[in-house]
Amino acid sequence: MAISKKVHEALIGQIGREFGAHFLYRSIAMDLYHKGFQGISAWMEQHATEEYGHAERIIAYLKEHDAKVTLPAVAQPTDTFAGVREAVAAALGHEKKLTADIHALHKLADEENDPATVSMLEWFVDEQVEEEHTVNSLLKRIDLSGPSDIGLFVIDSEMRGNAAAAATASAE
Ligand code: FEO
Repeated sequence: MAISKKVHEALIGQIGREFGAHFLYRSIAMDLYHKGFQGISAWMEQHATEEYGHAERIIAYLKEHDAKVTLPAVAQPTDTFAGVREAVAAALGHEKKLTADIHALHKLADEENDPATVSMLEWFVDEQVEEEHTVNSLLKRIDLSGPSDIGLFVIDSEMRGNAAAAATASAE
């Protein structure tokens, strides 16, 4: 079944937003790396890769349906954040917007009587629940660590260890 013009255009828009999320996470990663938070930076880089994968997933879906993919422009992301908390809060705000976008897309596909796109988007609906939870959990840990830099240092060291372990596991 061919994808309707409305759904096609909306999916192209979502490709741009997923690449936008990829840019935002990479931008946060680079800012935090520059500030010395290598562990949280590595986590943001991993998340940026996931966002790239989300865009690629929609591109693959459109290709499968013989729908031409025209890549949309991606705006330059914020490149400097006041601190780690502000950067993670920006990521969470972005995830909430992405969730609303995915829900709107899901509704549109349903209204357009497009069960294949509805089914494809259900993966994204579930993914957004997990992603919001993950970023929100990090934000909560940062808040629990209190205002001292020691708390952030501990979280960053732990995340640096996790990133190193993940890199080792993926190389094996
Ligand atoms: Fe593509 Fe973090 O959602």
